[in-house]
Amino acid sequence: MNNGCFITFEGIDGSGKSTQISLLEKKLRDAGYDVLLTREPGGTEIGEKIRSIILDPSNEEMDQMTEAYLYASSRAQLVRQVIVPAVNEGRIVICDRFVDSSIAYQAYGRQMGETIELLNSFAVGECLPDITFLLRIEPENTRSRMEGRELDRIEMASDDFHYRTFLGYDQIAAANPDRVVVIDGRDSVEHIHELIMINLQRLDEFDGIR
Ligand code: ADP
Ligand code: TYD
Repeated sequence: MNNGCFITFEGIDGSGKSTQISLLEKKLRDAGYDVLLTREPGGTEIGEKIRSIILDPSNEEMDQMTEAYLYASSRAQLVRQVIVPAVNEGRIVICDRFVDSSIAYQAYGRQMGETIELLNSFAVGECLPDITFLLRIEPENTRSRMEGRELDRIEMASDDFHYRTFLGYDQIAAANPDRVVVIDGRDSVEHIHELIMINLQRLDEFDGIR
């Protein structure tokens, strides 16, 4: 891929991804960038159907392998239908979650290990983010933020699962220091946004942006 840019946001549920994505989207649009916002699972008509199957709390019997394939299927469609074409047109793609979510939640959280990497290598091919912002916060610190939310099937999983997922993200960051920017998710909304803008400047497309 060339021309455009692919930015992803990662972190456990309630870490502040949506909040930061909307601030970044506004900042980039105001600066004249052509921004495409998308999300996983979902982001395409097919992907949104897959999303509703995955997250439906009544799908109690779903096997974790089925779950892993569904995330990867939604991703395969999004990569080919949306992300690669947009980046090739020179657009800035911001995605709420991408393949790191499967590594954190399925490989570490569900303890499915390398199967997940293999499966996802087929789903994404060569398409990897130029930069990933990991909003790092322990699950116990998001509890108050999640109050009042109607929980989906994944959010309803055990505390141990969520803690393994949190630790999985640290492993991903350690293994990909050039791509993954780790930001303390407990920090204020404004300061996190500032750190994101500073770190974006390392990419040619955003040289000089504030
Ligand atoms: P995510 O998209 O990662 O699930 P959200 O952006 O929806 O997270 O944030 C979850 C909740 O926490 C929201 O109520 C949001 O207003 C709040 N929140 C987001 N960022 C912060 C922050 N840095 N400090 C305190 N609360 C935050
Ligand atoms: P998300 O859209 O972040 O949920 P919400 O709209 O409630 O903020 O993601 C849905 C859930 O799916 C979330 O708990 C994380 C999980 N997930 C995985 O387990 N694996 C994946 O590959 C992805 C993309 C998400």
